[in-house]
Amino acid sequence: VTEPDLAGRHVVISAGGTREPLDPVRFLGNRSSGKQGYALARTAAARGARVTLIAANTALPDPAGVDVVPVGTAVQLREAVLKAASEADAVVMAAAVADFRPATYAAGKIKKKDDQEPEPIVLIRNPDILAEISTDRPRPGQVVVGFAAETDDVLANGRTKLERKGCDLLVVNEVGERKTFGSEENEAVVLGADGSETPVPYGPKEALAETVWDLVTRRLR
Ligand code: PMT
Repeated sequence: VTEPDLAGRHVVISAGGTREPLDPVRFLGNRSSGKQGYALARTAAARGARVTLIAANTALPDPAGVDVVPVGTAVQLREAVLKAASEADAVVMAAAVADFRPATYAAGKIKKKDDQEPEPIVLIRNPDILAEISTDRPRPGQVVVGFAAETDDVLANGRTKLERKGCDLLVVNEVGERKTFGSEENEAVVLGADGSETPVPYGPKEALAETVWDLVTRRLR
């Protein structure tokens, strides 16, 4: 039996991967499926929370009783998260957000010219949503959780990222072309701003989600 320990709480979760368009046909994207974020949404709803799920380019069924807000780009994700976060007790950023986007958008499909070298793609910085809400909490006292997708020096990079972003908890998971992205399982260490480290062994993404909510509810009390 699941304890309704999130009853009366509103949580905002981002899931999936942003896509940054180059032209009407192409985009820069990443391998996130949204499964980890959806697992967070399902488990929070089962624990009694009111859940807003900001979903970037996912192809998963809407979890029952969850308010799903579809978005495409990092800029759209930021707008949707900030709007929902102003009345949230916790914000969990599980989405893979593009750090950069193409500087220009071509209104028509970019053409291949046989006698010319391809044009380089110039990138500009996207807003860092997690850093922004960690610094200026849209609602005072809310708990902010980030994820860190790392390919090497996972824990050291995670600790640095936690300090740089300023969130309360950072879920550090290892990713690769066929690792974590799109799979049903995950394995992680949840780092706390208080110096705590909570390892979560390899298992269903729901199990990691439950640990995140255990740590969040402790900080909400
Ligand atoms: O979706 P799945 O297939 O289930 O895969 C799950 C996952 C690997 C995508 C997920 O577990 C995960 O690690 N999500 C975060 C991916 C990511 O963008 O990590 P990052 O280390 O690049 O970013 C760190 C944190 O800052 C994240 O919380 C991210 O949401 C946030 N961020 C990043 C860039 C940016 N411009 N704004 C942000 O808010």
